[in-house]
Amino acid sequence: MKKIAIAIDGPGGAGKSTISKAVAKRLGIIYVDTGALYRTVGYYARENGLSVEDAKVSDKMSPLLPNISIEIEYVEGTQHVILNGEDLGDKIREPDISMYASAVSSVPCVRAFLLAAQKDLAAKNSVIMDGRDIGTVILPEAEVKVFMTATNEARAERRYKELMAKGVKANFEDVLRELIERDTADSTRAAAPLKPAHDAIIFDNSEYDFDGSVEYIIKIVYEKTGVKASEE
Ligand code: DC
Repeated sequence: MKKIAIAIDGPGGAGKSTISKAVAKRLGIIYVDTGALYRTVGYYARENGLSVEDAKVSDKMSPLLPNISIEIEYVEGTQHVILNGEDLGDKIREPDISMYASAVSSVPCVRAFLLAAQKDLAAKNSVIMDGRDIGTVILPEAEVKVFMTATNEARAERRYKELMAKGVKANFEDVLRELIERDTADSTRAAAPLKPAHDAIIFDNSEYDFDGSVEYIIKIVYEKTGVKASEE
């Protein structure tokens, strides 16, 4: 199969990761969750006593970076992020870490720190990579670029159900408020803000179910690259 790159950007809770994971499996390629990298740096900032406000400050973040070693490993197709030798697993999925991840992601030196690892994965493998700046900054040459979005309510509903399924205590209003707060911060920051690439296909999947969303992406991939997915 020829090497391809698929960039999936969009706000939180739009289904980027679950849909991308399924598409990766059908295409036999790697799914790269770039948000996990920002979450890992955010986790480290919290562990080192920084507040969310501190984590937005370059002078607070830059001294931490030399002490951070992040490795990305794939075990049976699932991405594991290893921070200084420790596999963080679901520790980076807590709502608190979402706010830290968004905070550190606004700091240019943090983005620069994580840039090479992301580009390197796509240089060596066929990837479907999701994040906020994949089509605009990380893989501007990707054959397929999709900006995946949904209404605030649909996104909050999905995020809420995800948290419930994981046994994380949450309240719908808080999930909705934090999602909007985070998207506003992610799309208004100066460094690589969340926005569709000029050549991205906008996919509002509010009215799509999971299978329909997966088929939608697979169809675009076929149209743009000629690469066919396996049957489920
Ligand atoms: O996709 P996620 O919710 O795991 O991402 C967590 C935060 O990381 C998100 O609020 C913004 C940031 N992020 C980013 O700035 N650029 C990316 N490519 C991916 C995530």
